[in-house]
Parts: sequence; C-alpha cells; structure tokens
Amino acid sequence: MKKVLAVVAVFGSFAAAGTALAGLPAGTGVNGSLHDMTKVVGPTADSMGRVCVFCHTPHHAQSNDGGFNLPLWNHTIPDTTTYTPYAWATPLNSNNGTFTITDPLAGPSRLCMSCHDGAIAIDEHGSALGNTTGTTSIANVDTGFGQGRAALGKDLTATHPIGFDYNEIAAWRNANSTNGFANADGTKSTEIVTSDHTYATNIDTTGTTQGVYNTVTRAAGGKKIVDNLYGTNIMTCATCHEVHNKENATQDGFTDGVTRTQLGVTVTAPNYFLYAKQSNSLICLSCHVK
Ligand code: HEC
Ligand code: HEC
Ligand code: HEC
Ligand code: HEC
Repeated sequence: MKKVLAVVAVFGSFAAAGTALAGLPAGTGVNGSLHDMTKVVGPTADSMGRVCVFCHTPHHAQSNDGGFNLPLWNHTIPDTTTYTPYAWATPLNSNNGTFTITDPLAGPSRLCMSCHDGAIAIDEHGSALGNTTGTTSIANVDTGFGQGRAALGKDLTATHPIGFDYNEIAAWRNANSTNGFANADGTKSTEIVTSDHTYATNIDTTGTTQGVYNTVTRAAGGKKIVDNLYGTNIMTCATCHEVHNKENATQDGFTDGVTRTQLGVTVTAPNYFLYAKQSNSLICLSCHVK
C-alpha cells in the first residue's frame, strides 16, 4: 500500500519516543536498533508495542513471491518492474553481456526495498496488509544522521550492484588478472574472492613487497559470503548487511572528534548493519582484492 505522507504528528513523537535502547552496539539484536520501528517512529507505531510485526507475522503472511516463499512477510512488496538495475562501468559495455541482472531485487533485496525505496510506509503492517496503519516514509525520518539518508529510491544504478551471479562474475574477473592470493583449493582470487571466504576482520600492510598482495585476515568461523548469497549465487542487500543487527561488525569510532547522536543517544559510529567494519574499508576488502 503506497501511503500519502502525513508525518507531522509522527515527527512530534520523535523526541518523546522511548529511546533509551537506541544506538545499541552491533551483534545485539533488533529491539532498540534502527530496525525497531517502535523506536524510529515512536511507541504508537504498533498498539501492542511489537517489534517483529513491521516485517514478519506468524499468521496471514504474504506467502510467496514469484515461486519462492517469503519469510512470513508482513509488509507491502515493491513492484520490481519499476526499478532500474545496476549497469557496469567497467569493463566497457561490449563485455557487459557477461554480467547479467535478470531480477535486480532477487531474494531479500525486495524485502529491504519494501521500506528503503521510500514509497511504502515503514510502520505499515497488518494481517495480509488489510489493516495497514502506516504513515511514515523512510524519506521523512531523521534518526540522527540526516533526513532521508536511508531512502535509496528505485534507481539501482546508484547502488552497489545486486541481483547478479556472484560466482560467475568472480570467476570471470579472476581469469583476467594475476596478483592476488591463493585459495585453499588451489585457485586464485585475483579480483573478487571466491564465495567460500568469510568476511575480513583486519588488513596487514607491513612487510608487503611489490607484487605481493596485502595480507587480509578473515573471521575463523561464522558466515561465509556464500551463506549470504540468495540461492547460493545471487548477491543481494543481505550479502553486505545483517538486517537483525545480530551478526554484524562493531564499527570503530569516529576520528574527527565530533559527537553525534542517533535517536537522541550519543553514538561513536553507526555500524550500518554491516558484516565487516568500515575502518580500513574491511567490508569492501571482504570481497574485492584491491
Ligand atoms: C526491518 C525488518 C525486519 C524486522 C524488524 C525483523 N526482521 Fe526478521 N527478517 C527480515 C528480513 C529482510 C529477513 C530475510 C533475511 C535474509 O534473507 O538474509 C528476515 C529473516 C528472518 C528469519 C529467517 C532467517 C533467519 O535469520 O533466521 C527469522 C527467523 C526472522 N527474520 C525472525 C525475526 C524476529 C523474531 C524478529 C523480531 C525480533 C525479526 N525477525 C524482525 C526483516 C526483519
Ligand atoms: C556491497 C555491499 C553493500 C550492498 C550490496 C548494499 N549495501 Fe547498503 N551500505 C553498504 C555500506 C558499506 C554502507 C555504509 C555507507 C557509507 O560508507 O557511506 C551502506 C549503507 C546503507 C544505508 C545507510 C545509508 C546512508 O547513507 O547512511 C542503507 C539504508 C543501506 N545501506 C541499505 C541497503 C539496501 C536496502 C541494499 C540493497 C538494495 C544495500 N544497502 C546494499 C554496503 C552495501
Ligand atoms: C520495516 C521497514 C524496513 C525494512 C523492511 C528494512 N529497513 Fe533498513 N531501516 C529502516 C529504518 C526506518 C531505518 C532508519 C532510517 C534512518 O536512519 O534514516 C533503517 C536503517 C537501515 C540501515 C542504516 C543502519 C545504520 O547503522 O546507520 C541499513 C544499512 C539498513 N536499514 C539496511 C536494511 C536492509 C539491508 C534491509 C533488508 C535486508 C532492510 N534495511 C530492511 C527500515 C527498514
Ligand atoms: C559481498 C561482496 C562484496 C562487497 C562486500 C563489496 N563488493 Fe563491490 N562488488 C562485488 C562484486 C561481486 C561485484 C561485481 C563484479 C565486479 O564488477 O568486479 C562488485 C562490483 C563493484 C563495483 C562496480 C564495478 C563496475 O565496473 O561498475 C564497484 C565500484 C565496487 N564493487 C566497489 C565496492 C566498494 C567500494 C565496496 C565497499 C564499500 C564494495 N564494493 C563491497 C562484491 C562486493
């Protein structure tokens, strides 16, 4: 259900909202995080103060989407035909045939966009969406880092590529470069790491000689990239982000000495629900050999 933006009353409730739990560190959970609409919108967002309900319901959920079951989804799904998929900048267009995106929002990406495209109210929820109550667009909320910063729109040419076959592209990229590192199975990751790697935890640049790639340390256990690919091969929003604020990396503090607040609580740095840190661009180095 697309909602007209009638947010004045809702905005008034931000300051009064119970924000004591906001700004929870990574690895903590949904309650009190930026994905807790009873904190982002305020306690009136749901009459019973439920948290999961804005995304899931135990009964009367939307059951499938193009043949794949949805995780008990309780939010309007965006119309994917109105989206523009990413178009590669490199290599030149003549090679883009290798990099195909058939459904830009394949898998959980369309669940994210049911709030993050800005067209559907973030506090909407209800039995088969028959009794939606939502009024607030993500474009109109300001949790501390600027109004509308989380409204990504429908033009995915401005967002990191998703909806493509990770393994296929990794193989193609790796066949066309030399420097990198050897994988356990004897192949080489020269541009994009193979999806059996975990996410980066550190990078060591000391003692690196010319022609030898920096040493990237990775988590010994936990989720591998492939575990976050849809159907074992498609990259989605959830390949980088952990929606439940439960398994993501704690981001290092700001270095500019400026104090910032999110939902009224002082925070050292947002964790962006990412599987690896922003510091040293470890999230990027989790996949890109650069
Ligand atoms: C902001 C939306 C949102 C909220 C709030 C939310 N979820 Fe989810 N949940 C998702 C999305 C999106 C997925 C699919 C994730 C994926 O495929 O990586 C998911 C998947 C799941 C799954 C299946 C996969 C898994 O991780 O086990 C379970 C179970 C689940 N959620 C439970 C919950 C519970 C319980 C709550 C409340 C404490 C909750 N969720 C709150 C968005 C949400
Ligand atoms: C390749 C990894 C990757 C993918 C895929 C990805 N993101 Fe992000 N996202 C990031 C990083 C890194 C940041 C931190 C932003 C920055 O560094 O400026 C971020 C930030 C965000 C933010 C906060 C925006 C801001 O400027 O403060 C939102 C919201 C978000 N992502 C949602 C999504 C959604 C929804 C999708 C899928 C359509 C998605 N992301 C796909 C890596 C990714
Ligand atoms: C029910 C609505 C809803 C859904 C579904 C949803 N989000 Fe969000 N998300 C929000 C709201 C609201 C915020 C806070 C917006 C702001 O700060 O301006 C947010 C914030 C974020 C941020 C910024 C976190 C930070 O630390 O700054 C990221 C990243 C993000 N979401 C990613 C995702 C991804 C990925 C998915 C799907 C797997 C998803 N979201 C699904 C509502 C949603
Ligand atoms: C989960 C793995 C993963 C993460 C994390 C990731 N990327 Fe990517 N990225 C890819 C893959 C796979 C591609 C598509 C293959 C390619 O173009 O090399 C890609 C494509 C790109 C492209 C497009 C290249 C083009 O020709 O248009 C850029 C630029 C990029 N990534 C930069 C980044 C940056 C910067 C970060 C960190 C903020 C990041 N990526 C994080 C896997 C990832």
